[in-house]
Amino acid sequence: MGNKSGSGFYLSKSTVAFFTLLFAALFIAFTVFAVLYLRSRTGFCNFAEEEESDKVKPLNCTVVPTPGRQGIWDHYRLPTSLVPINYQLVLWPRFHPESPESTFTGDVNITFQCKNATDVILLHSEQIEVTVVELVRFEIGTEAPQILEVWRSSLYSYLVINLNETLTENSIYVLRISFSGVVPKLNYHLLSVYTDCIITTQMEPTYARTVFPCFDEPSFKATFDIHLIYLPNYVALSNMPAINTSPISDGDGVIWKVTTFNTTLKMSTYIVACVICEFSHIEMIEHGNEIRIWARKSAIENGEADYALNITGAILRHVMDYLNVSYPLTKTELVAVPEFPASGMENWGLIIFHEDSLLFNYSSDTKEKRRLICSVITHEIGHQWFGNLVTMNWWNQLWLKEGLSSYIENTFPPKLETEMFMTITWHFLFMQSYLQDFSYTNVKQDDLWHHWQKAIDSQNEVKLPASVKTIMDKWTMQTGYPIITLNTSTGTLSQEPFDAKRRHATSANNTWYVPIEWIKNGSAQPLTWLKSKEGTFPEMKITSENDWILLNANITGYYRVQYDALNWNRIINQLIKDPEVFLSLFISGILFLSHLHVEEFNKVNNTFIIHSVFHFFFNTRDQMQRVMSVACWLGFHECLQMASKIFREWIKNPTKEGLPLFIREVILSYGIESGSFQEWEIIWNIFLKQKDNKSDYSDELLFALSFSKEPWILNR
Ligand SMILES: *[C@@H]1O[C@H](CO)[C@@H](O)[C@H](O)[C@H]1NC(C)=O
Ligand SMILES: *[C@@H]1O[C@H](CO)[C@@H](O)[C@H](O)[C@H]1NC(C)=O
Ligand SMILES: *[C@@H]1O[C@H](CO)[C@@H](O)[C@H](O)[C@H]1NC(C)=O
Ligand SMILES: *[C@@H]1O[C@H](CO)[C@@H](O)[C@H](O)[C@H]1NC(C)=O
Ligand SMILES: *[C@@H]1O[C@H](CO)[C@@H](O)[C@H](O)[C@H]1NC(C)=O
Ligand SMILES: *[C@@H]1O[C@H](CO)[C@@H](O)[C@H](O)[C@H]1NC(C)=O
Ligand SMILES: *[C@@H]1O[C@H](CO)[C@@H](O)[C@H](O)[C@H]1NC(C)=O
Ligand SMILES: *[C@@H]1O[C@H](CO)[C@@H](O)[C@H](O)[C@H]1NC(C)=O
Ligand SMILES: *[C@@H]1O[C@H](CO)[C@@H](O)[C@H](O)[C@H]1NC(C)=O
Ligand SMILES: *[C@@H]1O[C@H](CO)[C@@H](O)[C@H](O)[C@H]1NC(C)=O
Ligand SMILES: *[C@@H]1O[C@H](CO)[C@@H](O)[C@H](O)[C@H]1NC(C)=O
Ligand SMILES: *[C@@H]1O[C@H](CO)[C@@H](O)[C@H](O)[C@H]1NC(C)=O
Ligand SMILES: [Zn+2]
Repeated sequence: MGNKSGSGFYLSKSTVAFFTLLFAALFIAFTVFAVLYLRSRTGFCNFAEEEESDKVKPLNCTVVPTPGRQGIWDHYRLPTSLVPINYQLVLWPRFHPESPESTFTGDVNITFQCKNATDVILLHSEQIEVTVVELVRFEIGTEAPQILEVWRSSLYSYLVINLNETLTENSIYVLRISFSGVVPKLNYHLLSVYTDCIITTQMEPTYARTVFPCFDEPSFKATFDIHLIYLPNYVALSNMPAINTSPISDGDGVIWKVTTFNTTLKMSTYIVACVICEFSHIEMIEHGNEIRIWARKSAIENGEADYALNITGAILRHVMDYLNVSYPLTKTELVAVPEFPASGMENWGLIIFHEDSLLFNYSSDTKEKRRLICSVITHEIGHQWFGNLVTMNWWNQLWLKEGLSSYIENTFPPKLETEMFMTITWHFLFMQSYLQDFSYTNVKQDDLWHHWQKAIDSQNEVKLPASVKTIMDKWTMQTGYPIITLNTSTGTLSQEPFDAKRRHATSANNTWYVPIEWIKNGSAQPLTWLKSKEGTFPEMKITSENDWILLNANITGYYRVQYDALNWNRIINQLIKDPEVFLSLFISGILFLSHLHVEEFNKVNNTFIIHSVFHFFFNTRDQMQRVMSVACWLGFHECLQMASKIFREWIKNPTKEGLPLFIREVILSYGIESGSFQEWEIIWNIFLKQKDNKSDYSDELLFALSFSKEPWILNR
């Protein structure tokens, strides 16, 4: 999707790209949200305690909690009556690399302000044992209410603290809490112990509450003073630079090291980060900003972090220049973690990557890998502004940060390889005013629409059929998406809401403003908007014998397309006649146009297509990876069919290298899903050979194996 033409930044094209990204980001955010939601509902993080309310050990507890009692803890969102200001946080993992589980202890002093009088303090806390030590009032000489009881409301992971009287409006209080927990080994969240002796956090979206009690919602921003305690042969990292170290002795006479990090900027809990590791690093200084890349010692010695170090400074500088908002931190650390559960996590000042997304082996890795690393780094750097500095108000607006970071990701890297030169377009002006207005705060999507509208109004090149808010609200407030039908004898486009589950149009009357990117006879046509239920576009009529039309050619719009038989036949003829020219269109088409007849498809030279598919994937990796995993997940017939075809081709000679990294998981998973027991067995045997070296590949294999539809296979 990136702008591949080495120089310049053309307005019309980038406008389309900008819409494209926003739509794509919306789509991805919905999917991500759905997945997270499903996981949280299907016991993804269920642990033993599932009673309605569990008592914790408060020192001043006098009342026995009644299970099932009702109150403000029955709401999914925190009340806004209390607002955190600062967290003083001590974390002490009792680190034993040889044992599968180690424990950690911690203390936190949360300074908060009471905005509305309340006699209940609600905090998030999950999977940790908590002891509330005391509540004091910040103003010396005044007394805080007494803690009556402390209990856990498991439904929404709240720690509930009941007080004997209300907190005073506008007063500031400090709540002292001690806690302890288990550092899970190789789990999907927080404080995980990895191979090579490393502990790292992953807080997004809601794992901070499993590390320390907190107001764990993105809009509750505060500053953090973090102290980490660890054995002296390790290195400790956090969002901010270390400002002090001192020794501490535990009960057994072992001397540990305490590192204190400087106070963070005002930020959300989901980007708090800590790493304790035995890594080494390389570093450079760019515009007064200290950039360090941390990785396994052998990787650093082999020079595998050199590429990342070489590009990070330039990316940071360029993004900063174009956004015209300076980078507020004095250091940026990038850590390469084996088996990290995401390709990258944008924690402010301490960005954590999966090794595959950061380390580059000059002797064995491909240029493609280099591009991937550059994209991931740029995306995470983009988040330092979009997400960290300006944060979405709530997770349903995740795409505010993902969309804008993806825009940065797709705009910068192609330029870095050549000479960096871009005109400051209205996109950047828009982003600049957006960042300037909302730094250190949270935004709702209307804030974005408002700024976007201002930018649109200030220029002449781009014309929209309605206000930004009107257009975008249709996409974000209505469920589902449209299916567009083209009648090529009249040139009429019509839209109906599409029911993805039942795979046909529904009876609802929803309409959308649909941007139509389209192609006639192989050449791209000007962007067209379908503004209402129906519209007639004479230029979309098929008149001559060879005319054919393809809508949503680059699958950039979030909608499906249906043609009449005439146009279908022309498209298929075109495909049979000249597959090479038609290939990219075909592939983009095939995923979303689920109405292609299978008999027609089988006329096409499959061998050719399968080989070409790989070629095409290599050129549009990012887009295809996303499109394919989403499309297959949604059950698009053509996606599943393609995955299964590629899989069957591959399994004849199942080498790790035979499948490109970025589609490996999708192909394996959906290949298994549609495959036979013999195929499952082959993958299982590969897995058994791989499982000891604990690579990504073995995780992918295991993940794929779980996709089998046969219960008796899964029971093995
Ligand atoms: C209970 O609270 C009182 C003040 O209300 C305090 O003096 C006492 O020390 C607390 N008890 C414990 C065990 O902390
Ligand atoms: C919290 O405050 C108490 C009392 O002022 C202090 O002794 C303790 O060290 C503080 N804890 C942290 C984590 O800063
Ligand atoms: C909180 O206080 C503000 C002003 O002090 C008031 O407008 C608002 O209604 C209060 N909210 C609640 C939930 O009591
Ligand atoms: C609540 O506890 C505080 C501190 O112990 C005490 O000063 C106050 O009188 C108590 N209030 C009520 C209503 O009991
Ligand atoms: C901590 O950060 C503040 C604000 O950025 C800075 O003024 C101060 O010098 C830093 N402290 C140390 C010890 O570096
Ligand atoms: C770093 O960048 C410079 C200039 O672009 C280039 O000459 C050098 O080879 C690069 N080094 C590495 C390790 O990528
Ligand atoms: C932002 O732009 C103004 C005017 O062009 C310039 O003076 C200023 O230095 C820029 N600030 C940053 C942080 O780039
Ligand atoms: C990097 O590639 C070279 C050549 O293929 C290989 O010998 C070396 O082991 C690789 N390094 C790592 C850490 O994989
Ligand atoms: C759709 O619109 C028609 C006519 O305007 C109306 O009769 C019908 O009830 C609407 N259907 C729904 C689901 O709103
Ligand atoms: C689809 O993407 C390609 C490559 O990015 C671009 O050249 C082409 O113009 C796009 N097609 C349309 C209809 O915009
Ligand atoms: C296209 O529109 C014409 C005129 O309304 C209609 O007769 C024809 O059936 C339509 N074609 C399809 C495939 O719906
Ligand atoms: C199908 O495509 C492959 C690869 O381009 C080619 O070798 C083969 O001859 C083609 N088969 C037919 C029947 O055209
Ligand atoms: Zn992101």
